[in-house]
Amino acid sequence: MSWNFQQIQVDVQNDADNVASSHELEAFRIKYLGKKGLIPKIYASMGILSKEERPLVGKNANDLRNHISQILEGKKQEIKQKEKLSTREDLDVTIPGARANLGHRHILTQTIESICQIFVQMGFVIQEGPEIETEFNNFEALNIPIDHPSRDAFDTFYLETPDPQQKERYLLLRSQTSPGQIRTMQQYDPPFAVVIPGKVYRPDAVDASHSFMFHQIEGLYVARDVKMSDLKGLLTVFCKKFFGNDIKMRFRPHFFPFTEPSAEVDISCYICGGKGCSVCGRKGWLEIMGCGMVHPCVFEAVNYPKGKYTGLAFGLGVERIAMLKHGIHDIRIFYENDNRFLNQF
Ligand code: DAH
Repeated sequence: MSWNFQQIQVDVQNDADNVASSHELEAFRIKYLGKKGLIPKIYASMGILSKEERPLVGKNANDLRNHISQILEGKKQEIKQKEKLSTREDLDVTIPGARANLGHRHILTQTIESICQIFVQMGFVIQEGPEIETEFNNFEALNIPIDHPSRDAFDTFYLETPDPQQKERYLLLRSQTSPGQIRTMQQYDPPFAVVIPGKVYRPDAVDASHSFMFHQIEGLYVARDVKMSDLKGLLTVFCKKFFGNDIKMRFRPHFFPFTEPSAEVDISCYICGGKGCSVCGRKGWLEIMGCGMVHPCVFEAVNYPKGKYTGLAFGLGVERIAMLKHGIHDIRIFYENDNRFLNQF
C-alpha cells in the first residue's frame, strides 16, 4: 500500500482551517490521531512494506504526526481564547459603543456664514477673491495714495517677485478684502450687490487682539441711485438681525480713502447695555465696522462712466465680531485648534 503524503498534507490543512470550536477540534484529532485514525493506520501498514520503502514512509508518518500535534496545540489556544472572550461575565454587550468624534464647522466659519446669510436674504451674492493681490487692486484703485502708511512694507506683506507683465510693481498678500470691490466692478456691470468674505494679512505683532492673518467681510452695492439712507437702512437691518432687536446703533463720521462720506458703525455694548464696562472700555459703544459711499475715484479706476453710478461699501472684521458676540478675550484662541474651545460652538 502506498500513501500520497503530499495530498494528506493538503487535506490536513483544509480540515484544520475549518476547525472553529473545541468539538470540531476533537473530531479533527480523532480523524488523524485517534485509535482508528489515519496516522495509526499508516503505522500499521508498514509491516507489509518492502525494506526500502519502510524508512521513508516511517519518516513521513512521523513528520505528519508532529505537524498535526502542532496544529492541535495552536488551535487549542486559539479556541480557548475565543471562548473565554465570549463567555466573559463582565462583558456587557448593551453598553453603547465608542462614539465616533464628529467634527463641525469652526466658529469663524459659522460667523462668516451667518453674517453672509443675512446679506444674502437681502439680495446680495457671495463672491470670493484671491489672497495674493496686485498693488493696484489692494491700494491704487482704492484711492490709497503711494505714501499712505498702510502701503509701507511694515504694514503689508509684499511678495518677492515683481510681475513684469503687471502695470504695478509688486504682488502682495491682500491686507483687506476691499480689492474684491475692484475685481467685482471690473467683472460686472451694475446693478449688483456682493459680499466678499476672506482671509487678510498684516505684519502685526501677535497679541491678544492682533494676528498676522484674520478674516474680513466686504460689502458692495452699486447701482444708479444708491443713497446714504440705503447704507444706513441696510446696516441697521444687519445689526438688529445679528445682534438682536434691542441693540442701538450710531454712525460715527470717519475717514477711508475709498469712500466719501465714510463712517464707522458702533453698536451699544450688549454686555452692559450701554452703561459702560470693561468690554466697551467704559464707553458704552463697540465699534464693529467701517462703511461709506463709494468714492468717485474708485469708479474712475475701474473705468465706469463718470457720474453714472453710485454705491455703498462696508467692511467688517470677523474675529472682532465673533469676540464681541461670544465674549472671547484673546484672538489667538481661534487658531489653536483646541477642542475644549472649539466644541463650545
Ligand atoms: N478695508 C477697511 C479696513 O480694512 C475696512 C472698510 C472700511 C471697508 C470702510 C469698506 C469701507 O468697504 O467702506 O480697515
